[in-house]
Amino acid sequence: MIKTEELTRKFGDFIAVDHLNLQIVRGEIFGFLGANGAGKTTTIRMLCGLLMPSSGRIWVNNLDVAKEGEKVKKSIGYMSQRFSLYQDLKAKENLEFYAGVYATPRAEAWENTLPLLEQFGLKESLNMRTAELPMGYKQRLSLVCALVHNPPLVILDEPTSGVDPQARREFWQVINQLAFAGKTVLVSTHFMDEAEYCHRVIIMQAGKEVALGPPRELKQRFEVQNMQELFMKVAGGINAKLK
Ligand SMILES: Nc1ncnc2c1ncn2[C@@H]1O[C@H](COP(=O)(O)OP(=O)(O)OP(=O)(O)O)[C@@H](O)[C@H]1O
Ligand SMILES: [Mg+2]
Repeated sequence: MIKTEELTRKFGDFIAVDHLNLQIVRGEIFGFLGANGAGKTTTIRMLCGLLMPSSGRIWVNNLDVAKEGEKVKKSIGYMSQRFSLYQDLKAKENLEFYAGVYATPRAEAWENTLPLLEQFGLKESLNMRTAELPMGYKQRLSLVCALVHNPPLVILDEPTSGVDPQARREFWQVINQLAFAGKTVLVSTHFMDEAEYCHRVIIMQAGKEVALGPPRELKQRFEVQNMQELFMKVAGGINAKLK
């Protein structure tokens, strides 16, 4: 579903993403982990065709992102790190707006999203102004907006930041359902309990891969009990960089 070859992005002399080689298969839940500034969002924006790589190549759904960016965008549902919902619009108007962005007929967009709206308890809130929705509901609405065009690939950049534990758990149930239904889910997170739910994860530090594999295998390889310990061992954030 996703393949990158030596994917690199520089900002001036600074290397934000450094020769990343990824292969992510259909139906997989793939986690992006790394301290602040590790390069997760920069990678994600390149995968979505929103940012040009400095060098290297990307294929999404067998399409070369550099050559067929517009087609690629149609096969991705992207939830950005800062939810891009219009606060002054009603919830349902945000959905209709995204249907427009993805050129999906309204009837089709409703068909694609109604089961999820019901499951998320959002159906009753569709006429509310988005600004009035509680945080957890805004996050759910953002996910639903990313799915209006029923894309095979869903890319979620820190979707659960600022959301309570119960809402996070429910959100992950939906991520599992999406993968079970054959969608590929790429998700970045700072929550190590969420890392445990991924089929495979990459841990990035300073733009580079420092670990990649299924959580269970990584814990064995690095001789740690849990993902929290693994993270501290291989990507201990700003402190690790200073050592
Ligand atoms: N447009 C830009 N111009 C210059 N530097 C940038 C730009 N975008 C990102 N960077 C830098 O690239 C590095 C990686 O940033 P990125 O946003 O990808 O990190 P991240 O892993 O998503 O971090 P976080 O967990 O905080 O979201 C950071 O040092 C950031 O300051
Ligand atoms: Mg980020």
